[in-house]
Amino acid sequence: MTVNYPPRVDLARLPTPLHLLPRASERYGRGKRIWIKRDDLTGSTLSGNKVRKLEFIAALARQRDCQVLITCGGLQSNHCRATALVAAQLGLHAHLILRGEPEGVPDGNLLLDHLAGATVSCYPKRQYHHHLESLFEQWQAHYAEQGLKALCIPTGASDGHGIWGYIAAAEELVQDFANAGIEQAHIVTANGSGGTQAGLTLGAAIHQLPATVWGVNVCDDEAWFLNKVAEDIAHWERAYECRAPAVTPRVIDGYVGPGYGVATDEVHTLIGELAALEGVVLDPVYTGKAFHGLVSELAMGRFDDATDVVFMHTGGLFGLFPQRAHYHTP
Ligand SMILES: Cc1ncc(COP(=O)(O)O)c(C=O)c1O
Repeated sequence: MTVNYPPRVDLARLPTPLHLLPRASERYGRGKRIWIKRDDLTGSTLSGNKVRKLEFIAALARQRDCQVLITCGGLQSNHCRATALVAAQLGLHAHLILRGEPEGVPDGNLLLDHLAGATVSCYPKRQYHHHLESLFEQWQAHYAEQGLKALCIPTGASDGHGIWGYIAAAEELVQDFANAGIEQAHIVTANGSGGTQAGLTLGAAIHQLPATVWGVNVCDDEAWFLNKVAEDIAHWERAYECRAPAVTPRVIDGYVGPGYGVATDEVHTLIGELAALEGVVLDPVYTGKAFHGLVSELAMGRFDDATDVVFMHTGGLFGLFPQRAHYHTP
């Protein structure tokens, strides 16, 4: 299938490296090779999976002559931080609708949101969950009154526009696999709002990437993500008038732990282990849980029909710092 990519703004440092984790393979691999796709290296502060999606969303904002980007997420949202930095980089304004009430000095992603000059509006969780749509409308109208056009970007930039970023990443992986001598693999990624998995799953089918894509959900459950991935793909079909090939999204449920943003001691320990073993730093909200899912499922034989397992490192480093209390150093 030939794909006509829509316009994109060059924001991410691509292609990101794919490399073997030799010591992690030895420790957790049970004879398999564990690889890592370093999407944490799409940039420094403007980093992680969100940058790939925002390349297409930023182009949309330009096409529509928008001066403001409005988006939403948790207080430590990586997506909101990336949006704030993209806006600053392109001379736009970012307005972030955040879930929760900040305490003390801003830390991690929230600190960067402020540094990037974003307007930050925080709402108690109940109000956020019940009135998100009207908050978007209210702020969009607020900017319209000032003669400014605002683009509303959904949670995690996960929709039919944002998923182009991971359709393109799947194409990048075709070359990565050829270079690395990978013939068939399982790819494991964290699921937060579904767009990364939707793009990768669809992209794998479009570009004939020899891989099965698994999303480890860090919130909600399997049914929610199966539905969300289908919704994002359906939106992509409508928005770009194309027909998606048949795909089977796969979700690994069971690694959310105590809740979104809260990890078990096992996850914190694994993060410390991998950092010391391979010099790769994960975060406790997304990638730590997904990697925990990967090693646990690998041990239970889920990936036994291939010799290669690829972990998508989707970034999230700044979310580690507000949780520093879990990582005691001697
Ligand atoms: C670091 C990181 N990894 C993974 C994800 C999950 O990606 P998606 O929202 O596309 O499911 C997110 C955001 O939700 C994230 O910030």
